[in-house]
Amino acid sequence: MAIISSKSSPEPQPPKKGDSPVEVTAPQPGAAPESLVREPQKSATQEKTPPAAPVEDGLRPQKLADYIGQKSLKEVLDIAIRAAQSRKEPLDHLLLYGPPGLGKTTMALILAQEMQVDCKITTAPALERPRDIAGLLVNLKPGDILFIDEIHRLPRVTEEILYPAMEDSRLDITIGKGQGARTRSIPLHPFTLVGATTRVGALTSPLRDRFGLIQRLRFYEVDELTQIVQRTAQVLDTPIQADGAEEIARRSRGTPRIANRLLKRVRDYVEVKQSGRIDEAIAAEALELFNVDPCGLDWTDRRLLSVMIENFNGGPVGLDTMAAATGEDAQTIEEVYEPYLMQLGYLQRTPRGRIVTRAACHHLGYEESVVPDFRSEQQLSIM
Ligand code: ADE
Repeated sequence: MAIISSKSSPEPQPPKKGDSPVEVTAPQPGAAPESLVREPQKSATQEKTPPAAPVEDGLRPQKLADYIGQKSLKEVLDIAIRAAQSRKEPLDHLLLYGPPGLGKTTMALILAQEMQVDCKITTAPALERPRDIAGLLVNLKPGDILFIDEIHRLPRVTEEILYPAMEDSRLDITIGKGQGARTRSIPLHPFTLVGATTRVGALTSPLRDRFGLIQRLRFYEVDELTQIVQRTAQVLDTPIQADGAEEIARRSRGTPRIANRLLKRVRDYVEVKQSGRIDEAIAAEALELFNVDPCGLDWTDRRLLSVMIENFNGGPVGLDTMAAATGEDAQTIEEVYEPYLMQLGYLQRTPRGRIVTRAACHHLGYEESVVPDFRSEQQLSIM
């Protein structure tokens, strides 16, 4: 499968205006229903995009069976794929939500591969004008997948164009302005919208209600990440021991994208130090150097927690205050850092603001008495 992606950066990045959509072709003869099988075509959007990064392509699993973790999501999608194939229909529209780096884009590409259709990848802020989304929709072929990342950031006009497109495969466009304005309807090929978001609560309910499937991606377990690291090491031709893969997995914040990035840093370290294969000790040594602690916390995580402890007596403290005090972007704190800190039990969100827990103090080497005791934490979280 040829993957052309403008999303090669490992870290969550705010999309830039004018990001062009990316087309991914999933040609593989055989299993798919005839109505959905076509010759892959080269599109204008494909020509405009930068060349693919071949190694990154190889790191992504291509089939549902090769995708490690997210067991219940895979079960749901497997049923949806088989049902759609047997009816020779496109997949139902799918909304994937969860923290960044857990594999939402990868899953959209796998769905395209399994359904033998093409996948166009774009991001909501790039769909600023009606003609941006209209151009994408009219070029979709039967059954194609349109993947919209950060779908909670869709401009209102774009969202309203999507409603009839999702429901009735129809593009309603308004021609002219004021009293002379007329609406024209253009039929579209039935397609599947895969939306991805880190903030499902920020979607409007009319948009959310138009997705037949709404699925959450969870943080990965250490054993799942260990398998992912081993698989990636194989693709990169990097010798690694099981305990080395596990050490990287433990420090990867439950996130495959981070696991793969850390593996590459450890690989660099091992190559430069000429220390042979990656084992537990060398992985730990390398990741300490890169400031990733045994729980996977990086410099920013630790700073967020220590600012809360030192400047705000452990909280409660509001998100905007935290952003101002640390110089971090509030949305990034909320969507990128907090979910894992909450997963570890180091931070709680309460109606009065964020509080750090005793476990966080313990981890960072502070006296536990600097934060509210257990009873008041409980009281805060139910207020
Ligand atoms: N690489 C990144 N995420 C993966 C996953 N969930 N399964 C297999 N390989 C991966």
